[in-house]
Amino acid sequence: MKKIEAYVRHEAFEPIRLELLGLGFPSLTISEVKGSGRQKGITERYRGAELTNYLRPKVKLECVVADSDVQTIVDTVLKHGRTGAVGDGKVFVAPVDEAYRVRTGESGEEILQAHFGGDAA
Ligand SMILES: Nc1ncnc2c1ncn2[C@@H]1O[C@H](COP(=O)(O)OP(=O)(O)OP(=O)(O)O)[C@@H](O)[C@H]1O
Ligand SMILES: [Mg+2]
Repeated sequence: MKKIEAYVRHEAFEPIRLELLGLGFPSLTISEVKGSGRQKGITERYRGAELTNYLRPKVKLECVVADSDVQTIVDTVLKHGRTGAVGDGKVFVAPVDEAYRVRTGESGEEILQAHFGGDAA
């Protein structure tokens, strides 16, 4: 199992989410975060003073998947996340040792698979 942690533009999230859902990956977590990349920040004038903001808003998307699904997820993020301009974001892939479904106590990679019932959450 791997955790994909992607930092993307807000506008990229909905297209990414929709495609992942269509591909059978409905389970993910997002957070609205602020971060900095390798640029020096954006300088703006505010009430006559020059202020440099080093932090940019991003969406952090976390998704734990089977090893065999990693490339599909990464490709989807890259496809919808890329505008070609600086600040498009980054994707990290990290190992995950174990996963448990709280409701049943089941564990292992099987719990990551989508099911096609109708319940929300
Ligand atoms: N090494 C990192 N560790 C943790 N978060 C990171 C790292 N690099 C980037 N991020 C996160 O990703 C966001 C977007 O980074 P950004 O796209 O600016 O990366 P970059 O390396 O500067 O690439 P680019 O040249 O395309 O701007 C950052 O605001 C930060 O939240
Ligand atoms: Mg950058």
